[in-house]
Amino acid sequence: MNADDMKMAVANAALDWVQENTIIGVGTGSTANLFVDALASSNLQIDGAVASSEATAERLKAAGIDVHDLNSTGPLSVYIDGADEADANLHLIKGGGGALTREKIVAAASDKFICIADASKKVAVLGDFGVPVEVIPMARSYVAREIVKLGGDPELRDQFRTDNGNVILDILNMQVTNPIELEQQLNQLAGVVSCGLFAQRPADVLLLGNADGSVEKIMGAKN
Ligand code: 5RP
Repeated sequence: MNADDMKMAVANAALDWVQENTIIGVGTGSTANLFVDALASSNLQIDGAVASSEATAERLKAAGIDVHDLNSTGPLSVYIDGADEADANLHLIKGGGGALTREKIVAAASDKFICIADASKKVAVLGDFGVPVEVIPMARSYVAREIVKLGGDPELRDQFRTDNGNVILDILNMQVTNPIELEQQLNQLAGVVSCGLFAQRPADVLLLGNADGSVEKIMGAKN
């Protein structure tokens, strides 16, 4: 099986976590896109979705799924999204697509966070992917200097603006041995909107697609 097949397998498996007649949260990226396709082809009846990016909102609408503003929904039953890396504690790195802030908001507003990924995303220690940090443009140089003090190499994502009009600094060459602490340190920097570490609020369930076609279900400590 190639990576796309593995993503498709977990996208389909995530349908088991969708509660009918509720509004759900939907993430961003190629795996989340496959989930939207799977949802649209299923017989599941939902009341609509909140999207974590403009791109996902467009995909949901094209699939005939109502898109809601989070301010009008109250808590969401479940959030389904991919990841760039996941460790055994279901701490994640996200933001490869630059949607980390809205992803973090929608995850926070959801009762359950189901992460879907192909097996290549599972790592022993987070960090090789880089840690995306969304930054208000005027704070870019200041935040970059603070990241160097924390031991990382900040790299400005080229020609990229988030849906919120901000820039991304990707922190390279950093092994994230304490994701909760680093998430807090990054969040405290003036000018940082959010960072791509999802450790304070990890996933509740990780569905991993394996090369043999199987889907492994890893439950978080709180489940
Ligand atoms: C976007 C994300 C994605 O979930 C992450 O980049 C994984 O993407 P893909 O499913 O394409 O591998 O965080 O900001």
